[in-house]
Amino acid sequence: MLVGSTFLQLALLPALALGFTEAARGKKNDFDLDSLSLREVGARNTLDWRIWLEKDGQPISFWHDVPLYPSKKNNRIINFVVEIPRWTDGKIETKRSEPLNPIFHDDKKDAPRFVESVWPHKSYPFHYGSIPQTWESPNFDHDYTGFPGDNDPVDLFDISETSAYTGEIKQVKILGGLALNDGGETDWKVIGIDVNDALADLIDDVSDLEEYRPDLAETFYQWFTYYKVPRGDDVLEIVGGKYQTAKYMAKTIQQSHGFWEDLVRGRVDSNEISYNQTSHRDWKKSYVDSKDATKKFKIPKKSKILPAAERPAKYDNWYYLDEDYKLIELK
Ligand SMILES: *[C@@H]1O[C@H](CO)[C@@H](O)[C@H](O)[C@H]1NC(C)=O
Repeated sequence: MLVGSTFLQLALLPALALGFTEAARGKKNDFDLDSLSLREVGARNTLDWRIWLEKDGQPISFWHDVPLYPSKKNNRIINFVVEIPRWTDGKIETKRSEPLNPIFHDDKKDAPRFVESVWPHKSYPFHYGSIPQTWESPNFDHDYTGFPGDNDPVDLFDISETSAYTGEIKQVKILGGLALNDGGETDWKVIGIDVNDALADLIDDVSDLEEYRPDLAETFYQWFTYYKVPRGDDVLEIVGGKYQTAKYMAKTIQQSHGFWEDLVRGRVDSNEISYNQTSHRDWKKSYVDSKDATKKFKIPKKSKILPAAERPAKYDNWYYLDEDYKLIELK
């Protein structure tokens, strides 16, 4: 058996290296970042605002059509969808229930949601977003955390000094991750760094960070535990109480890519996710030709950006926590 399967693998290797299946469909194997653009409609800080991702001018999905790996030969470098650029506080995400998953402004009680700033942080202290073609499947309890997934793509925070904008696709190096338990759901927070940051070549794991950015890893660990306290939530638990290694996270991400593939092939309960995609013609349940997508899904034909709505002034306040991470309120 072993001999047989090894033989099979060897026989398949050259074909895989050439991207055989992609080539056979007459498709380019590489995903050219220069072919991407954004179709933005509406006013920022409103619930109607949307951004769709375009490839060669046609809409595609941020979640299902951006490949996970820029190069299949290296599973430590992944693509990353920027949702919330550093030092902004609008809770911006890809919309799982709408076709092609545009970016939108999440709501709380019918108003756009912003994240409160906990002293001494001002808004999000890093670029924050999601990892395409991954899924925290809610269909079962996960090995490490013992909790089901939160039904979203895996989240990532990018600690690079390079700038970022909402809807940007970046390439980041995986450094490690935190297994956040958010209300009984697994919600991994992967720590990564933009490959274009000067530090990226010098470090391979979160443990290498201390020399160059003392205390950063610990500070961001704490941030994830208490950032929801001002809105009335408890401190969140990090399962295991420490960062997982880059190696472990590379494996976890690869596994979540498998869960995602089952979703988009229509093999499992989709939990109200719109998994229409434009990349895999042979995955018939979800495939749509991107040239037909604008009409089929009634997506606005081109960008129409309106002036941003005002952001409520109360989000300029700081919130202070006592040593037990309880909100300090003035009597
Ligand atoms: C694709 O989008 C349409 C329109 O929202 C929806 O009815 C359909 O269920 C979606 N298909 C998949 C596979 O998600």
